[in-house]
Amino acid sequence: MAEPLLEVRSLVKVYGGRRVVDDVSFTVARGETLGLVGESGSGKSTSARCVLRMIEADGGEIRFDGEDVLALQREQLRRLRRRMQVVFQDPHGSLNRRQTVAQALEAPLKAHGLGDKAARTARVAELLELVGLASGFAQRRPDQLSGGQAQRVAIARALALEPEFVVLDEAVSALDVSVRAQVLNLLTTLQRELGLTYLFISHDLAIVRYMAHHVAVMRHGRIVEAQPRERLFAHPQHEYTRSLMDAIPVADPETEQRRILGVS
Ligand SMILES: Nc1ncnc2c1ncn2[C@@H]1O[C@H](COP(=O)(O)OP(=O)(O)OP(=O)(O)O)[C@@H](O)[C@H]1O
Ligand SMILES: [Mg+2]
Repeated sequence: MAEPLLEVRSLVKVYGGRRVVDDVSFTVARGETLGLVGESGSGKSTSARCVLRMIEADGGEIRFDGEDVLALQREQLRRLRRRMQVVFQDPHGSLNRRQTVAQALEAPLKAHGLGDKAARTARVAELLELVGLASGFAQRRPDQLSGGQAQRVAIARALALEPEFVVLDEAVSALDVSVRAQVLNLLTTLQRELGLTYLFISHDLAIVRYMAHHVAVMRHGRIVEAQPRERLFAHPQHEYTRSLMDAIPVADPETEQRRILGVS
């Protein structure tokens, strides 16, 4: 396995006396994708939010590029936030209805005091190109974007600060099948071209199979099984993993891939 960029050890998060994340450990290798899969409420998003310090963990250890994430104070945390980004499920919900695409993409640059107006405008054009949107999209507002276009904007915004690590939390789950395939392929291309490391969260094991190098299966706040993709699908160890696999409608990987890609 390549050098780990992210290491999570014995992570705990408690809500109302309940350990919704209970002794969770995983690592994500630099330049690779860890798929985090499991049923609704299993603790996937909560684990990711702890890693991003959007919420505070109640126990455990998180190391990003060797740094102790949970020990970071304000200014260090601000620097770390440039390196870690997130894309959520609802493309329109994550964009401000009153902002143009250009304003949405400039916002992180402004927040970090990067570049003058001209440099920011150039960066907006670069970001649009990166996610496959024509330059004319800069002046559109969210209600003038399709779901797929809005999610491309959300991805561009996540990349504005040149992060190394991106959490994709059900990032394609709300999209139509054909659009989903395009966005998955975009994410794969971006990973290769920019050397990105992904935490790819999904309840859909078929999509995780398509995207992830390693897979961790979560249930009731715990990781029940973690394996390299090939091994997980060839030799699932846990009964719960097998039940998730049984829920994939087609067993044959090629047919399944065509289903994900929306081609028949
Ligand atoms: N802010 C909160 N307050 C109280 N309970 C919470 C909070 N956030 C999450 N939970 C609970 O923690 C558990 C794990 O939730 P989480 O959102 O991490 O699950 P998930 O695996 O991401 O599910 P989904 O696939 O539906 O997104 C759930 O039982 C949820 O109700
Ligand atoms: Mg979630």
